[in-house]
Amino acid sequence: MRVYFAPLEGITDYIYRRAHRRYFPGVDRYFTPFISPAQNHVFTHKELRQALPENNAGVPLVPQLLTKKAEDFLWAAQGLADMGYTEVNLNVGCPSGTVTAKGKGAGLLADRDSLRRLLDGIFAAPPTAVSVKTRLGTEDPAEFGPILDIYNDYPICELIIHPRTRREMYVGPVHLDVFEAACSRSRAPLCYNGDIRTAGDIHAAGQRFPSAGAVMVGRGLVADPAMLGEHDRDTLRRFHEELCAAYCEAFGGPGSAIHRMKAIWMFMLDAFEGGRAYEKRLIKAKKWPDLMALTAEIFGSLPLADRTGERAVSPLFREGSFDCNSADHMI
Ligand SMILES: Cc1cc2nc3c(=O)[nH]c(=O)nc-3n(C[C@H](O)[C@H](O)[C@H](O)COP(=O)(O)O)c2cc1C
Repeated sequence: MRVYFAPLEGITDYIYRRAHRRYFPGVDRYFTPFISPAQNHVFTHKELRQALPENNAGVPLVPQLLTKKAEDFLWAAQGLADMGYTEVNLNVGCPSGTVTAKGKGAGLLADRDSLRRLLDGIFAAPPTAVSVKTRLGTEDPAEFGPILDIYNDYPICELIIHPRTRREMYVGPVHLDVFEAACSRSRAPLCYNGDIRTAGDIHAAGQRFPSAGAVMVGRGLVADPAMLGEHDRDTLRRFHEELCAAYCEAFGGPGSAIHRMKAIWMFMLDAFEGGRAYEKRLIKAKKWPDLMALTAEIFGSLPLADRTGERAVSPLFREGSFDCNSADHMI
C-alpha cells in the first residue's frame, strides 16, 4: 500500500517536506498545503516558494489547489504543469469557515451544482492529471452517495477520502463504513485518509480496504516522523536540528521560527513516552532558548514511544474483521 504525507497548512511546507524526505525516506508522495489561485492569475512569492521544483528537490510532490472556479484552477494547473508537475490535486475538504463561506473546499459539497460545474470546467481540458481530496459531505455522511455519483462522472486519477463531514472537522469517529462502501462504487482509485497513527494502522487499513491503493497520513506522521521505518533517537534529533536551523534561516531568526517549531512539537510530543506531560511548558515557551531547553530535556530524558505489539494498531482499526494482534500488522 502506498503512503502519502497529507497536506497540513502551517506545518508541511517545503522545508519540512525536504527534511522529512532526507531523514525518513519511505513516503511515496507528499502534497502541498493548498494554494488558492488568485483571480489576477499571478502566483504569490509564498506560493512559488512552496511549489518551485528547486525547493522540492528529491521530494515526490503533488501540488494542491483550492478554488471554486474552473478557469482559476486551469490557469494554476497550467503554471504547475510548466514547472514539470504531472498531477494537481483539488481540495474539496477544507472545513474552515472562512473557506467554506466562499463556497470553496468542503463548501463545494453543500452545492452539488457548483461542484459539477467546477468539475465540468476542469475536465474539459486539464493540463495535468487531476486528483481530488474530499470529505463525505457537510452535515451527514449519507450525503456521500450522490457526491460519489458526481465524482464517478469524471476521469479523476485518484480520489482521496477523509471520511468525515465538514461539521465533524478533524475529531470524532471516522466513518469507515462509508469509505468501505465507496471502495466498491468508486470509478477512481481510492486513497484512505484519517486518524492513522502507526504503521500497524496502515497495514490494518490495507487489510480492511484491499481495493484502496494508498493511505494518506497527516497528524500521525508529524507526531511520529519515523512511522514508516526504524525509530531511532539520533535520527529524530538530527531531523529536529535541521528543522530548527532551516526555519531560523528561512524566517530570518528564531523570533518567528519558534512559532513553527512549537506547532510541530504540539504533535511531536507523542513521539516520546510521557511527552504529553510537557504540553503546558511547550505552550508557555515564549523565547527560543526556552524551547531549546525544553526540547533538550525531552530528548535527554524521555524514551521514544513504544510502537510495537499491542500499540501498533490504534483503537480506530482494532475492531474489524481481521486479527489485530497478529505480528504482521507491522509493515
Ligand atoms: C493544521 C492542519 C492543516 C491542514 N491543511 C490542509 C490543507 O492545506 N489541505 C488539505 O487538503 N487538508 C489539510 N488538512 C487536512 C489533512 O490533510 C488531513 O486530511 C487531516 O488531518 C486528516 O488526516 P490525519 O488524521 O491523518 O491527520 C489540514 C489539517 C490540519 C490539522
